[in-house]
Amino acid sequence: MSWSSDPHADSHHSNDQLPPELRPSLELRPSLELRHPHELQHFAGLTLSFDDETGSALAPGRRWSTFNDVERGCRGPDPRPDWVIEDAAAVDTELGVLKTGKEADVFLLERATTEASCLLAAKRYRSSEHRQFHRSSVYTEGRTTRRSRDARALETGSTFGRTVAAAQWAGAEWAALRLLYAEGLPVPYPVQIDGTELLLEFIPDADDPAGVTAAPRLQQASVPTGAAGSELLWDWWHQTRDVLVSFARLGLAHGDLSPYNVLAAGRRLVVIDVPQIVDTVSNPRGAELLARDCTTMARWFVGRGLPVEPDDLVATVLAELR
Ligand SMILES: Nc1ncnc2c1ncn2[C@@H]1O[C@H](COP(=O)(O)OP(=O)(O)O)[C@@H](O)[C@H]1O
Ligand SMILES: [Mg+2]
Repeated sequence: MSWSSDPHADSHHSNDQLPPELRPSLELRPSLELRHPHELQHFAGLTLSFDDETGSALAPGRRWSTFNDVERGCRGPDPRPDWVIEDAAAVDTELGVLKTGKEADVFLLERATTEASCLLAAKRYRSSEHRQFHRSSVYTEGRTTRRSRDARALETGSTFGRTVAAAQWAGAEWAALRLLYAEGLPVPYPVQIDGTELLLEFIPDADDPAGVTAAPRLQQASVPTGAAGSELLWDWWHQTRDVLVSFARLGLAHGDLSPYNVLAAGRRLVVIDVPQIVDTVSNPRGAELLARDCTTMARWFVGRGLPVEPDDLVATVLAELR
């Protein structure tokens, strides 16, 4: 099967006019051989563009699933949830921006075959000069860079160095998410990492029946008035305390825990944004950072009228440190 049977594709791209190196391979991926006649219709009517690397035709904002392009260790841990799409014939479609940030942008991505689809949060670390923010070295004390070319590039701050830094933060967040997920902490399932891009389980807003709106950050989550509200706040408080105790027992601090890095998926809290995770054993300021995580979270609950003591939470959590 080739695109030549697709009149639409033919009218846009005559391959004979292209220099050989730019000529797209007209072979579809083997697993996309049109087992399903409607697959062609799926692409019909779209302006076709050619991916330089794969030579395959896809509309702008779409790409072949990168799941099978990355090494094994760059795919999520087992047991893999059954909603994860592993099919090489899947197509990733960019649905929009969830948030642009100082150091990373987060996009909503749909990964779909003709039978199944799932939504993913694509967190892309910035590597360009436009990056406005440099993390404090407080977080990286005790970490080492093995490749000396990378280490030199980081020191000189070259473009390559910035790419290395972005990939290192992505890699650090990937490793942290894998560990936290495996330990049963409430974090998004890490689906894959590809250089500076992380694909994560998308956490939808429990109030959106279509499930395409992101869960609100705890900071913006609405709390009902009266007894229902106070009951919800206590539930969130207990989840928060459990998360912080789990971090302490693992000898870790989130390092940037705040109501902006906790999503409220209905009653369930999900912790995100973990690239700066800190080892409280090797980092001399680890305990201090864990205490700060506790205080920041506790103060939010105090602000919502919950009669809790930030210092008590700090004491409870630090007592669990390994
Ligand atoms: N897995 C996810 N599901 C839904 N929304 C997400 C997810 N990950 C991130 N987001 C959205 O993107 C925002 C930024 O993500 P975050 O990891 O906190 O990056 P930043 O470094 O920019 O703060 C979050 O506040 C949230 O709104
Ligand atoms: Mg954040």
